[in-house]
Amino acid sequence: MTTRTSHKNSSPFSAFILHLHPRKIPADTIRFTLSFGLGGMATTLFFILVGSGILQILSYIPNIMSAHQSVVAMYSAGSPAGFVRNIHYWAGNLFVIVALLHLLRVYLTGATDRKRRVNWLIGIALFLLVLFANFTGYLLPWDQLAFWAVTIFTNMIGYVPFIGERLAAILRGGDEVGATTLSTFFAIHVGLIPALMIILLIFHFWLIRKAGGLVRDPDSDARSVASVPHLVSREGAVGLGLAALLFLFAALVDAPLAEIANPGESPNPAKAAWYFLGLQELLLHFHPIFAICIFPALMLASLTLLPYLPGITLSPGVWCGGAQGRISAAAAFFVGLLASFPLTMADDLLIKENGSAPDLVPWITRGLLPLGVILLFHWLAFLILKRRGYARPETVMTLVIFNLGMLCGLTVTGIWFRGEGMALTLPF
Ligand code: HEM
Repeated sequence: MTTRTSHKNSSPFSAFILHLHPRKIPADTIRFTLSFGLGGMATTLFFILVGSGILQILSYIPNIMSAHQSVVAMYSAGSPAGFVRNIHYWAGNLFVIVALLHLLRVYLTGATDRKRRVNWLIGIALFLLVLFANFTGYLLPWDQLAFWAVTIFTNMIGYVPFIGERLAAILRGGDEVGATTLSTFFAIHVGLIPALMIILLIFHFWLIRKAGGLVRDPDSDARSVASVPHLVSREGAVGLGLAALLFLFAALVDAPLAEIANPGESPNPAKAAWYFLGLQELLLHFHPIFAICIFPALMLASLTLLPYLPGITLSPGVWCGGAQGRISAAAAFFVGLLASFPLTMADDLLIKENGSAPDLVPWITRGLLPLGVILLFHWLAFLILKRRGYARPETVMTLVIFNLGMLCGLTVTGIWFRGEGMALTLPF
């Protein structure tokens, strides 16, 4: 009753905001260093992408005869369409990074408790949609980069046992990337994915409210503050600040556009989109079933089930469970990142080139055996950390972050250190 009366007295803007946020929230949850505004940044990017996407439809022609030319024409003198394309392109790429960082912050601040588990699952679905949105959008300019990146990725899917070939054919709308692929990707990119994201985001925000707002350290200051203006002004500052920087960047740096797609001439090296280069790198070292199927499935399953595994949720509202956890997380990330380089080089230069690992039974030598070594390493690391007095949640976190470091290392190698024929090379 009280709430209704006060809603009546507030301005339409405040009344609208109060449907999204509770009237009062714990003061600790608006601390910038708790969330770094990452969820707000992801939301801002989503709106920018929808807005710039709608504007792009005005100048883009979704068929293989005209798509490339319509994108080239966006950059003709006096047209604002090129600027809009730049905004859309850079926002899309930033969205992948921001969504990943947001996912990490949620995990590292222990926001994976019972009340937030379902929201974690919604978040994983959103993250996969962010990747899929980027991937489907990548093909639309129909240039060499797009054509070959999508060809490589759909070929990678083909390695999934039993269903891979079928799945790749459905995605391509045939045996090869062509006219049907472009129209299918266009429909998925502008229709299906945004619709699914809107539904999931509404659910995501509702669940945050239902959980009583952001996660909070129970030992922190228990005072409450009004959402308007305290939370809303901070959200506005983060959103507008990010938009301003993005627009400035888009005004200065054009989105890449190569020559028109030529199915008869593959660029060398032919690379997947940057966020899939870690996977492409795995494919160079492991048997395809392990690189494309078993490792990603293990990663996705552990990530999805993380809040459901007993005793591994970190302390609520405290980054990495405390000071010791923060140090071990930072160390694990850099060790994982740095270890990926010598391991990649050793596999490429010593083992493969000298032929000292004969691939008689490749799924054992380049699959089962390395998987066994990796699992053994994790088990030993787990025991060592436990003996050094680490609690279970911090031990698991250290291993998760180590793997993240490795994946970042593989991605960096794929982006900058692979040249002709995917051989290792220096980027300069
Ligand atoms: C499209 C991408 C996403 C958007 C737009 C989005 C938006 C948001 C916003 C605005 C918040 C509140 C503010 C904040 O935490 O910074 C939030 C919280 C949350 N998000 Fe997301 N999110 C996205 C993806 C994800 C992902 C990938 C995950 C994890 C798998 C996730 C899980 C959560 C959880 C559990 C909370 C509650 C955190 C807490 O209680 O402290 N979200 N999200």
